[in-house]
Amino acid sequence: MYVCLCNGYRSSEIEQTARASGLSCPVAVYESLGSGPCCGTCLPTAKSIIEDAHRGRRRAANLDAPLPLAAE
Ligand code: FES
Repeated sequence: MYVCLCNGYRSSEIEQTARASGLSCPVAVYESLGSGPCCGTCLPTAKSIIEDAHRGRRRAANLDAPLPLAAE
């Protein structure tokens, strides 16, 4: 799905770039893809995609798991 019509960025590109780079700012992810935002209409959607990508990454690494209880 196209997220950014100004640059022709798809949700999959935004997600993959965020995961690979660790970037969380949509502007930084866009710049990493080649050019920054123009009108900015897509930025809230891009931010949501990036947050989901990082949440998925944390889940895959089991970083969201509760901490183990201390041994008694
Ligand atoms: S739609 Fe993404 S900058 Fe305009």
